[in-house]
Amino acid sequence: MMKDVGFIGWRGMVGSVLIERMIKKKDFQNINAIFFTTSQYGKSILFPNLKNKYIKLQNAYNLEKLFELDIIITCQGSDYTNKIYYKLRKIGWSGYWLDAASNLRTSKNSVIVLDPVNLKLIEQKLNMGIKTFIGGNCTVSLMLMALGGLFDNNLIEWIFVSTYQAASGAGAKFMQELINQMKYIYQNISHLINDSFNILEIEKEISNKMNSSNFPKDNFKVPLINNVIPWIDKKMDNGQTKEEWKGQFETNKILNLDQIIPVDGTCVRVATLRSHSQSFTVKLKKNLSINNIENIINSHNKWVKIILNDFNDTINFLTPSFINGKLDLPVGRIKKLNIDKNCFSMFSVGDQLLWGAAEPLRRMLKLLI
Ligand code: HSE
Repeated sequence: MMKDVGFIGWRGMVGSVLIERMIKKKDFQNINAIFFTTSQYGKSILFPNLKNKYIKLQNAYNLEKLFELDIIITCQGSDYTNKIYYKLRKIGWSGYWLDAASNLRTSKNSVIVLDPVNLKLIEQKLNMGIKTFIGGNCTVSLMLMALGGLFDNNLIEWIFVSTYQAASGAGAKFMQELINQMKYIYQNISHLINDSFNILEIEKEISNKMNSSNFPKDNFKVPLINNVIPWIDKKMDNGQTKEEWKGQFETNKILNLDQIIPVDGTCVRVATLRSHSQSFTVKLKKNLSINNIENIINSHNKWVKIILNDFNDTINFLTPSFINGKLDLPVGRIKKLNIDKNCFSMFSVGDQLLWGAAEPLRRMLKLLI
């Protein structure tokens, strides 16, 4: 019998990417999909790509309705999860809960899913009766997909990463704000752009405009355009941000390691719309050649792609603008470091909305059905 699968938060950004991927992969043919809403229940809407018919939206807060489901998949966010998950479990709901939000990742009874990396753990936990499966943090999932071969072979001593995270990681309204910031600057300085413009004058004017009280920055609090923001999420006691803290916690939870692999870094928001980049310093347990490192990385999964360490390949294929909307995970700039023969550095790019959010959940749903 087909499983009843409830979708919550499916019209948000991550949810939309999930639905798009599921339509493309024909996943809806194998499930009975029921669509929920937190605000418009009772309303019927056309779902053109899916069934070419009207579907009636159900109330996402109706516990009785949710109780009937075999699987719930939510991209609605942490507030919804906090409001509903515990209540549902308390009244005895024993279905599978799949979640893009971060709050259940630290729970003992959850697994962070990234099946190309931890399928064995997922299967083991399924056999143990675990029913709560959570998508990982975007930078962590993208890092594990990129460095999976080295983790699998137990070659990593520690990792330091500097991230270049797109506005999409913060949400749709942050992306809108970045675009509004671009618009604001252009509208205010376009009169200065002509055949012989004075670049210092324009730069000064842009800086002035960025500091003006009308500049759109309700979400980011400061300009992101023409700027970088070296802070993502809240402050932890040890000086890390929560985004930086997740690096070590989630990596080790996903890999289910006995001995912790230290992961640390600096997480930075940059003025790109979609796709996160990361610059790694990796300390290996032994001195491996570049060739060896590349072969091990390349053999881990079919999405990781080694980019030649030269100018043309790097600027064409190792950038967010090339990778947006693609599942490929290019890694490049791989080189040994002067500081230690066991260290190498690497740059990676990945679509934050695909492998960083929707795709691991889609694949987990597929495993369940
Ligand atoms: N926390 C990430 C970011 C989102 O802010 O970019 C992906 O999990």
